[in-house]
Amino acid sequence: MTVFGLGNDRFDRLSDYPFTRLNQLLADVTPPSGVRPLALSLGEPQHAPPALISETLAANAHLWGKYPPVNGTADFRAAVGAWLERRYRLPPGRLDPELSVLPVAGSREALFLTALLAVPQRKAGQTPAVLMPNPFYAVYEGAGLLAGGEPVFLSATRETGFLPDLDALTPAVLERTALFYLCSPGNPQGAAATAGYLARAIGLARRWGFVLAVDECYAEIHNGVEPVGALQVAAGLEDGARSPWSNLLVFHSLSKRSSAAGLRSGFVAGDPDLIQGFARLRAYSNAGTPLPVLAAAAALWRDETHVEMNRALYRAKFDAAAAILGDRFGFYRPDGGFFLWLDVGCGEQACRRLWGEAAVRVLPGAYFARTGADGVNPGAAYIRVALVHEPELVAEAAARMVAIL
Ligand SMILES: Cc1ncc(COP(=O)(O)O)c(C=O)c1O
Repeated sequence: MTVFGLGNDRFDRLSDYPFTRLNQLLADVTPPSGVRPLALSLGEPQHAPPALISETLAANAHLWGKYPPVNGTADFRAAVGAWLERRYRLPPGRLDPELSVLPVAGSREALFLTALLAVPQRKAGQTPAVLMPNPFYAVYEGAGLLAGGEPVFLSATRETGFLPDLDALTPAVLERTALFYLCSPGNPQGAAATAGYLARAIGLARRWGFVLAVDECYAEIHNGVEPVGALQVAAGLEDGARSPWSNLLVFHSLSKRSSAAGLRSGFVAGDPDLIQGFARLRAYSNAGTPLPVLAAAAALWRDETHVEMNRALYRAKFDAAAAILGDRFGFYRPDGGFFLWLDVGCGEQACRRLWGEAAVRVLPGAYFARTGADGVNPGAAYIRVALVHEPELVAEAAARMVAIL
């Protein structure tokens, strides 16, 4: 059936986006009157964006009239390159930002475009596979489908450390894999891949000739233990690859790190050949990041003070949630990100009750996942709770959850 009568079978395979499904689920549910509604569904940071943004935008206001170059500015690329070196302790000079870094309008755009870059018409004579964890960030699936690939969902449950089990990948799947999306720390579960895990994933990408796309947009929201990065791991591999970054792209964003979701600014970095292809793709598909925004972004990548403050604020929210939830619903502190992933038995039912009885809006885990070959949707038992509000509101929401569920 065609959704909009377009007759585009790729498009018609797209599901409704999770937030649309949530609105449908709750359409006939009315929250109790007189109770303040608390929306913990959207992962939109609520901390005040750093003043550095408005100051730098103002100082560069004379540049609004200019078309921005697709590959940004040398200053932006240098700021990102220096940050990557610092954050991931890359050997100085190993990563050339001129060849390996591009600005993007948020990591969502870049993750989406990557499928257009990475997925050929056929791989090993078959429909190309686009691997992704299950549950997953919805964009991976949409991008894979629209690029003509077949999404292959790799169960990422508590039993597998909330990451896909790489041992479960068969040669039959790997030979037709064009792209593998990994998210570390993950959304929704918050698990960070270890260096060993990333090394194996990079090795598979090189052995089977696919693109490994590692979404690290939550890398800076952690508990004090910095999640290891894929570039960091790649820098230490000595496997004779043509470039230290072969087959690898990583994605970062200021949306979470700097509470600047509205700035629409991030970067993609890695394999120079892929980055070159990305620049060409972006020349056709995108408007480029405005020069004042690139200047503000460069200033943010050079500053860590606001990021440390941000992390402290998130820690306080997890503390507030932990104090009330205890070990209920399988509560755990994730390695990164700002989500609770709570096992409530039936996520959809819990969402309807929480909204109808306590005016708390959260997302059913099922909407982040697909039913696997075993007939199980690995998100069905869960709800995702975004800890983006101040600790008092988080505590209030947690208390209402405990009372209702
Ligand atoms: C896992 C994941 N990747 C990427 C993004 C995209 O963020 P942005 O486009 O703001 O960088 C999000 C946003 O919620 C996300 O959760």
